[in-house]
Amino acid sequence: MVDRCICFNRTFAELRSVMREKEVKTVQELKAAVKFGENCKRCMPYIERMIKTGETHFTVMPFVEETPLKNGEPKPAEEAVKKASM
Ligand code: FES
Repeated sequence: MVDRCICFNRTFAELRSVMREKEVKTVQELKAAVKFGENCKRCMPYIERMIKTGETHFTVMPFVEETPLKNGEPKPAEEAVKKASM
């Protein structure tokens, strides 16, 4: 279950509250109000879905990123493909 931006320890429920309080409608507006999603960015697909649907708890989605993570760790989507082919 995914319920937060781990890097900034912001729950999606907290972000949704900020959205509603400030009548925010986009990720950019939400980022102007509170800091999140500026490190690994793995939370961003969930944030976008939260903005569209109001959901705050999600099953894990595959993560696709153009640039590798800083520590050289495999991207989750690549890892899932590798495990599936074993
Ligand atoms: S989990 Fe949100 S920036 Fe890393």
